[in-house]
Amino acid sequence: MVPPVLPYPMECYLSGIIVTLEILSSIVLSTEDIPASKRYPTFKGQVLNGQQLWELIEGLEANDLLYYTHLLTGYIGSVSFLNTVLEVVNKLRSINPKLTYVCDPVMGDEGKLYVPPDLVSVYREKVVPVASMLTPNQFEAEQLTGFRIASERDGREACNILHAAGPSKVVITSINIEGNLLLIGSHQKEKDQSPEQFKIPIHKIPAYFTGTGDLVTALLLGWSNKYPDNLAKAAELAVSSLQALLHRTVDDYKRAGHNPQSSSLEIRLVQSQDDIRNPQVEYKAKKY
Ligand code: ATP
Ligand code: MG
Ligand code: NA
Ligand code: MG
Repeated sequence: MVPPVLPYPMECYLSGIIVTLEILSSIVLSTEDIPASKRYPTFKGQVLNGQQLWELIEGLEANDLLYYTHLLTGYIGSVSFLNTVLEVVNKLRSINPKLTYVCDPVMGDEGKLYVPPDLVSVYREKVVPVASMLTPNQFEAEQLTGFRIASERDGREACNILHAAGPSKVVITSINIEGNLLLIGSHQKEKDQSPEQFKIPIHKIPAYFTGTGDLVTALLLGWSNKYPDNLAKAAELAVSSLQALLHRTVDDYKRAGHNPQSSSLEIRLVQSQDDIRNPQVEYKAKKY
């Protein structure tokens, strides 16, 4: 089968992915057991179940529309849906064996799970082995490895453990080190070789944002597609876009007279499209 040529520039898809993820995560997270100040007061609509997802796949297949180059998954709230996602990965790979599967194993944050606990072992045993790239936060990396991350070194070791389980690219999107954030990236270019690793220090803004994890994963997917052999560069671009957007978000709230620390901030995605398309690289990766 001939791969279809994308009719629009990459950034159109990138922003499409980002906006979709943002909306989905905002709605889904509103159902979770998180503090009232960080939660939407109400939500509407239905949650797709595994059977319904599979019907969409069948519809695409019946129209010969199942050739995909990339699959990205984020928040998944049940074991049955996650199992269907695994079937989707298999199906898409049977049509394009080179499919890149980017998995954000969204399970929790800051020491707390926000999905049913039985999802953890499904991620660990079935999903991680088939992922091409994984983007856990610190807590999720600990859940997937059973390894406590208390230092930069531990973060690198967790990446090694995850490579051994499957994915050649791992980005721990943040670990907390003395009140600041550190992104740790790791690319194992050949099986059984030691990975190329790097870190990007990020000054922690005193605010809580909705959707940063989704955005950073979407940006990593987009830039890794452009620079498949340079994960450090992809991460520099992703972090630089994201930080410009977060600073714009905080400034915007302040200008409107809001205290940015009083609630969860809605990220200024549309207003930051130039920073997403064409970031000034102000965050540099340090290679180990
Ligand atoms: P989410 O809670 O949205 O699922 P996550 O826990 O999966 O996110 P994080 O690692 O917390 O992912 O955040 C992703 C990225 O967002 C980080 O790499 C960092 O660049 C940025 N970020 C998030 N919060 C802040 C903050 N308060 N200050 C600066 N950067 C932040
Ligand atoms: Mg987080
Ligand atoms: Na993450
Ligand atoms: Mg996340």
